[in-house]
Amino acid sequence: MTKNFYVTTPIYYVNDVPHIGHAYTTIAADVMARYKRQDGYNVMFLTGTDEHGQKIEKSALKAGVDIQAFTDKYSATFRNLNEALRISNDDFIRTTEERHKKTVQEIWKTLFASGSVYLGSYSGWYAVRDEAFYQESELVDGKAPTGAEIEWITEPSYFFNLSKWQDKLLKFYEDNPDFIAPNSRRNEVISFVKGGLHDLSVSRTSFKWGIKIPNDENHVMYVWLDALFNYYSAVHNKEREHFWPCDLHLVGKDILRFHAVYWPAFLMACDLPLPKRVFAHGWWTNEGEKISKSLGNTIDPHKLIAEFGLDYVRYFLMTEMPFGNDGNFSRESFISKVNSNLCNNIGNLAQRVLSFINKNCEAKIPVYGSFIADDQKLLDLSYALADKMRKHMDKQEIHLAFEEVISLGSAANEYVDKQAPWALKKTDPERMQTVLYVLCECIRIVGIALLPIIPDSAAKLLDQLNIDVRNIENMSAKYKLQSGATLPMPQGVFPRLQ
Ligand code: MSP
Repeated sequence: MTKNFYVTTPIYYVNDVPHIGHAYTTIAADVMARYKRQDGYNVMFLTGTDEHGQKIEKSALKAGVDIQAFTDKYSATFRNLNEALRISNDDFIRTTEERHKKTVQEIWKTLFASGSVYLGSYSGWYAVRDEAFYQESELVDGKAPTGAEIEWITEPSYFFNLSKWQDKLLKFYEDNPDFIAPNSRRNEVISFVKGGLHDLSVSRTSFKWGIKIPNDENHVMYVWLDALFNYYSAVHNKEREHFWPCDLHLVGKDILRFHAVYWPAFLMACDLPLPKRVFAHGWWTNEGEKISKSLGNTIDPHKLIAEFGLDYVRYFLMTEMPFGNDGNFSRESFISKVNSNLCNNIGNLAQRVLSFINKNCEAKIPVYGSFIADDQKLLDLSYALADKMRKHMDKQEIHLAFEEVISLGSAANEYVDKQAPWALKKTDPERMQTVLYVLCECIRIVGIALLPIIPDSAAKLLDQLNIDVRNIENMSAKYKLQSGATLPMPQGVFPRLQ
């Protein structure tokens, strides 16, 4: 039976060009998607752009351009970024597409018919930057808790009966302890819901840029109701319906409430199956400072790629901090992390082993004799890697999964030093071949394991061993290298950063 795996990123607002925060979520989802494909799953990986709402309308008006043209332009910058990051998404959804509008209007009808949505009038605080309503009690120094400017709005509005779902949500969190991760965030959400839920205003009349409410065209839909359903509309068709419900929504911590409270409530109200997991990651600072446009310290992912190379950027972002925690971008730690883990560890291992084989084994996979305890130990460690990584990847402990690979690299480097094949060359050439064979096996496993995070470099590494079976399943002894096969000329894969 094929196993399905559906993973999403948030859809990004098109009021500006992408920065490192957007790249971060998207790379994480890409690593998950590549890993799952490699582990035999049928994967659906969705990303896209969030194009309606007052914030986009305002930005387009300010720029003095047609709103649709404005969204076209910025949406394309997100697509371009995906290409530059080698993102393997299966689809890119835009909320201004017909397929999405159609689904969301159907959803609205369902909500209305079931009495989950009713007409009333809204008076309260709204932050356009967050596209969020706030209670008086949540405000901090006259601003939203996020620091966004707020405005008082009074207008007729449809409401979603969120308050009614409070107990059902709490029960759902209790019955599904893995629904919200990490655990600290789960606790925050639960206490927020326990604090009481207010019905949610889900339509606006004071601007036009949104999906029209069926049968009441003075209203456009609240942008979050519209946006959240992107995850559904992309698979709401015959070819993809088996992907529902979604397995994993990756989001930043700032938008967890929308995904862990509103979203399951909307779905319950439509009687649709709920997603299995929402994982909230942390935020980056830049050299210790909060990243913001007004401080002028946003980080352009294209510039990073141009300077350091894509794989190093992907590697650093995914391993610098535990996935789920906040972290800091610093050039110094970027360079030292990449140099010590990739260049000096994995790169050095591959380079010394493969060039030694090239010179001393007629550029062929060495012939092994019997294995001594040290050999078997490194082989066992190598073959154990797949299971260790899977345990971490299942919990989105991306940083830990790849730390396991680096530890294996360190063990292999220690093994080379101890076995000293350059000395064996004179004293025991057969033993030298066995040692080199064990190392090739280890490099093979390391290469396969690194594919999801640094796809280009890992592929180059595997090419040097002529390996074309690259699934997780292949990380076992059953698929071990054939002695005697000819190898290409080795090339350095991990240039050191200065
Ligand atoms: N459009 C909504 C999401 C709708 S999903 C149905 C939105 N878009 S966004 O473009 O503002 O932000 C998208 C993501 O970028 C969020 O997950 C957010 O956490 C992330 N980041 C923005 N700045 C960030 C950092 N400095 N660091 C890490 N991620 C950050 O919200």
